[in-house]
Amino acid sequence: MSLRSVLMGTGSALPRRAVPNSEMAQLVDTSDEWIVERTGIRNRYIAGEGETTSTLATEAARKALEAAGIDAADIDLIILATATPDQTFPATATLVQAALGCNGGIAFDVSAVCSGFLYALGVADSMLRTGMAKRALVIGAETFSRILDWDDRTTCVLFGDGAGAVVLEVQDSDAPDAPGILATRLHADGAHNCLLYVDGGPSTTGTVGKVRMKGREVFRHAVTNLADVLREVLDDTGLTAAQIDWVVPHQANARILDATARKLGLPPEKVVVTVDQHANTSAASVPLALDTAVRDGRIRKGQLVMLEAMGGGFTWGASLIRI
Ligand code: UT7
Repeated sequence: MSLRSVLMGTGSALPRRAVPNSEMAQLVDTSDEWIVERTGIRNRYIAGEGETTSTLATEAARKALEAAGIDAADIDLIILATATPDQTFPATATLVQAALGCNGGIAFDVSAVCSGFLYALGVADSMLRTGMAKRALVIGAETFSRILDWDDRTTCVLFGDGAGAVVLEVQDSDAPDAPGILATRLHADGAHNCLLYVDGGPSTTGTVGKVRMKGREVFRHAVTNLADVLREVLDDTGLTAAQIDWVVPHQANARILDATARKLGLPPEKVVVTVDQHANTSAASVPLALDTAVRDGRIRKGQLVMLEAMGGGFTWGASLIRI
């Protein structure tokens, strides 16, 4: 008997306020043309009063539970990926647990920035298949707007806020085409931690800090690392790129999505793109894009879906799922 973590439902949440590029051009020396041409971003959502990482995460989780037809009381594991927790501690996952009223199971945060959801998914999959839990909520949620330097045009135009969640359930899966997570690969290379970071923290400055990024260098590493990890996951499963129905990438830059797809010989029609509407929502971006494509009917039962992300650390990873 083999066990698989099966994706039972997805959900997402966005702040109330949409901010188009034209508004960014009133804040810093930039233009709609520059942002669209260099990144593909046209819009982002920015959290307002009362909207935090935990409120967005809780809304996304509720929608995922509803889609899965699973009661919050049956969730015994919550893993939340974020770089913008409500507080330094406790883990934001425990705030979501309390809001959902499913106390008593396991709840913790993971920190891998834009790859955080892939890391959380990999950890949840391992815990489910080793019997530590039966049903998991895996969430990526961010209020990145709160750690942006709003005077720095090289970063502030790129990010947005939001949350995405999935419900996983461990099931027996003897049939080769049974649904579930087929393979996950995760990596980190700490030698590059100075190319994308926050210039503060509890143990150094005692402040929250702001995002700093050497964008061009991150871009270069992203395309190579992502193409490599996608190949690793395909090798693990014996599947080919041509068999993938959808790629749901981290939404950092439309040019990275295009370049990675091209390297693997995947047609652009198979890539889910939401960066135009959501911008880069860090750990939220993959589950937010996944939920978008599930709800609009593109991603359907039985299909093979590849998730992938790369971010600060550097960290990167990919996961292949049969829906
Ligand atoms: O989510 C984690 C992973 N993050 C990423 O994957 C981000 C990866 N990097 C990128 O997406 C791109 O490198 C950026 C979108 C950040 C930048 O695009 P680029 O084509 O690499 O531009 P650049 O940094 O080489 O800058 C080109 C020019 C510079 O001017 P000069 O030096 O050529 O005169 C910048 O000062 O564009 C200028 N610039 C801007 N101009 C207008 C930078 N930001 C802006 C801006 N508006 N917002």
